[in-house]
Amino acid sequence: MATDKTFYLETFGCQMNAHDSEKVIGTLRQQGYRQVESEEDAGLILYNTCSIRDKAEQKVFHRLNDYKKLHKEGKRFGVLGCVAQQEGEKIFERAPFVSLVSGSASYRKLPEMLTRLEAGESHITGLDDRQTDETFETEFTARQNPYRGYITIIEGCDKFCSYCVVPYTRGKERSRASSSVLKEARRIADLGYTEIQLLGQNVNSYRDPEGKCSFAELLAAVGEAPGIRRVRFMTSHPRDFTRDIVEAIDRVPALCDHIHLPVQSGSARVLGRMAREYTPEWYLERIGWIKATRRKISISTDIIVGFPGESAQDFIQTMDLLAEVEYDCVFAFKYSARPNTPALSMVDTVPEAEKTTRLQALLERQREIQRINYSKQIGEIVEVMVEGVNPARGQIAGRSSQNKPVNFVWTQPIAPAPGSYVRVKITGAYPNSLLGQAV
Ligand code: SAH
Ligand code: SF4
Ligand code: F3S
Repeated sequence: MATDKTFYLETFGCQMNAHDSEKVIGTLRQQGYRQVESEEDAGLILYNTCSIRDKAEQKVFHRLNDYKKLHKEGKRFGVLGCVAQQEGEKIFERAPFVSLVSGSASYRKLPEMLTRLEAGESHITGLDDRQTDETFETEFTARQNPYRGYITIIEGCDKFCSYCVVPYTRGKERSRASSSVLKEARRIADLGYTEIQLLGQNVNSYRDPEGKCSFAELLAAVGEAPGIRRVRFMTSHPRDFTRDIVEAIDRVPALCDHIHLPVQSGSARVLGRMAREYTPEWYLERIGWIKATRRKISISTDIIVGFPGESAQDFIQTMDLLAEVEYDCVFAFKYSARPNTPALSMVDTVPEAEKTTRLQALLERQREIQRINYSKQIGEIVEVMVEGVNPARGQIAGRSSQNKPVNFVWTQPIAPAPGSYVRVKITGAYPNSLLGQAV
């Protein structure tokens, strides 16, 4: 029944979306709702959506179609997140049984929107046209990850890369007050978390509305919070990447040895057309800072292959950059034309088959780079945070500070508990994980 205060929520997309869902769940519970595990059992069915690439968005409409029959039983549907903001009221045309459409920049109004839904309103929208200055903060966050506590420090994006929907779907860039971030960090530590991840489309574009600290200073302050042993942050934009970030990592032990710095392309010409506003040289200078630290910082990146106008020569430059940086992890995507973006009007010159060929060549090359990188760690001792135990294989799984998966054997009678830290000697390596023995 629609009056049942039960909800089902499914999340697509990035870590920002996953954490938004933790906040949405907390907000719903605060309004008297109870979460259930399946669409069939829920009075309210919510999808927190992503539209970064085309398939992500199709998935949502397929899913809505799969379950629309439940509408006849009185169940209500809501679409949240990036597809909601992007498609807006058009969702009501394509899926008239949907009652609620809200982008992330309007989640502050969720309690009010829920009240209207309960009163029987059928087409409720929370859509923001890059107007709001508000951030979505709540003390009721329903944290789903038992070991890693997420904190959003900046929402939205003002960069307008020519291929990307995010500035349109998440609103304008707005940072959270540093005092509020630090308060949440302490609250998370009090809950027993030892690892924090700071989140934002571009975390390092952070500007404290209170004017108290820079991103690097905020990072250091979170790293110095009592009880916190690991701090991660995602994603950094090369344009706002300053030297004090690597200095902070070198100085504050709790800051993890890992930086994700998306490059997108190794060609200056393609980067220009992407409106990234840096050159490969500028990017490599920042990589140089990271490599010059005392600590060995692992570097990962995002790449787009087959951007409109990417020539074979441009692609070779991307391959050369991979070889030069020697990343520990690469997320590579075929370019996908997105609504409202400037790149949509560029002629998409790279045929789909060629995009696939380039993507495969890149992934193969990267696998070889990782195989070499990871095997260099054999013999090292690393600290691993335990995430799970696989008794069948007699193995324990966890992650190093560099964010690499480490599986290790344990010879003592009592296995270490998830969330604990163990020193592990690396005895073997694969392109995506390490093998070891507890010491
Ligand atoms: N703010 C981050 C990226 C967030 S989106 C940054 O600028 O670095 C995550 C990744 O999705 C991007 O780094 C990019 O590689 C990829 N992406 C974004 N739009 C895309 C598109 N239209 N086609 C293919 N990949 C895309
Ligand atoms: Fe998208 Fe560019 Fe903003 Fe990243 S910086 S979210 S790629 S517009
Ligand atoms: Fe997708 Fe929106 Fe994140 S488009 S990747 S959910 S910011």
